[in-house]
Amino acid sequence: MSIIILGIESSCDDTSAAVLKDGILLTNSIANQDVHKKYGGVVPELASRAHQQNIIPVVDMALKAAKVNKSEISAIAFTRGPGLLGSLLVGTSFSKGLALSLDIPLIEVNHLQAHIIATYIREENIKPKTPGMPYLCLLVSGGHTQLVIVNDYLDMEIIGKTIDDAAGEAFDKCAKVLGFPFPGGPYIDKNAKLGNPETYKFSKPKIAKLDYSFSGLKTAFLYFIRDELKKNKDFINKNLYNLCASIQKTIIDILFDKLILAVEETGITEIAIAGGVSANEGLRNSLIIKALERKWNIFLPEFKYTTDNAAMIAQAGYYKYLAKKFVSQSIIPLARYNY
Ligand code: KG4
Ligand code: ZN
Repeated sequence: MSIIILGIESSCDDTSAAVLKDGILLTNSIANQDVHKKYGGVVPELASRAHQQNIIPVVDMALKAAKVNKSEISAIAFTRGPGLLGSLLVGTSFSKGLALSLDIPLIEVNHLQAHIIATYIREENIKPKTPGMPYLCLLVSGGHTQLVIVNDYLDMEIIGKTIDDAAGEAFDKCAKVLGFPFPGGPYIDKNAKLGNPETYKFSKPKIAKLDYSFSGLKTAFLYFIRDELKKNKDFINKNLYNLCASIQKTIIDILFDKLILAVEETGITEIAIAGGVSANEGLRNSLIIKALERKWNIFLPEFKYTTDNAAMIAQAGYYKYLAKKFVSQSIIPLARYNY
């Protein structure tokens, strides 16, 4: 009999449902929440209300597109955390209710591990190139920045992380200063392509070992722009491309300094990137260049699975299903969830 996993993601501002059959992705439906754009960041209360509105239509759409009847689902995998508690509660409660009514197992998934697992998502007739284990993964999302040794699908070790802001937050906060809507990372990426990354220099943090810090950079960028605007109120408009290229290069350089150190310390040269910021073309191109220089074997996730989606939750859920790692109805979501 086929193993059919329904994946549910609701950790932040995307409501998503995916259907995976015998390890092959059939559908991945996502409802984004435009409501946050004008606030310059995700408003937790609005996010949970939107999840509440979207979750049933999104799941219905995913099942219909996959031509799967709910009676055929083998198990439900949902994001337990980390994330916004009100958002997580919607996905968790929905998953518990549906699993109970269908009398099928429930699987909890760590959102960050799922971003890493996204490398293994397979569609019909498409076999992705996947890293050999153990490998190093640079996980860069809106809420987290981590260096992770992946020993197995469900066995991962964090060897470095940010002590304050995440790389995605640095992109988004600098983008906000430049006047872009939220999330601003993709706007910086797009405009950076037309600029000279060497135009402006921003100092890099001095943080011990394999940890990261991005809050100082964000503040330095804010003060720099504020001071330049005092001298010339058109400063941003006149220099937008160079500003985007320069701040993007600084963030990428910070990410690579520690990635290179991690490779030196672990001796692992199989490298993957994951999370929303791994969609960044500057980061991807730099990784390709570094790989050629340093003889790394690299793995870039497909663009569509870099940002939040339920396909990665279903994929992680599939491995947990095979390992029979199920949870009971007493499970609760965790806003902070280490692995
Ligand atoms: O992984 P994700 O979808 O959500 C979290 O789990 O946080 O990541 C969202 C983050 C946002 O900060 C967004 O600006 C960033 O990923 N992002 C990008 C790009 N696409 C998404 N940052 C830079 N360049 C991009 N192309
Ligand atoms: Zn995410």
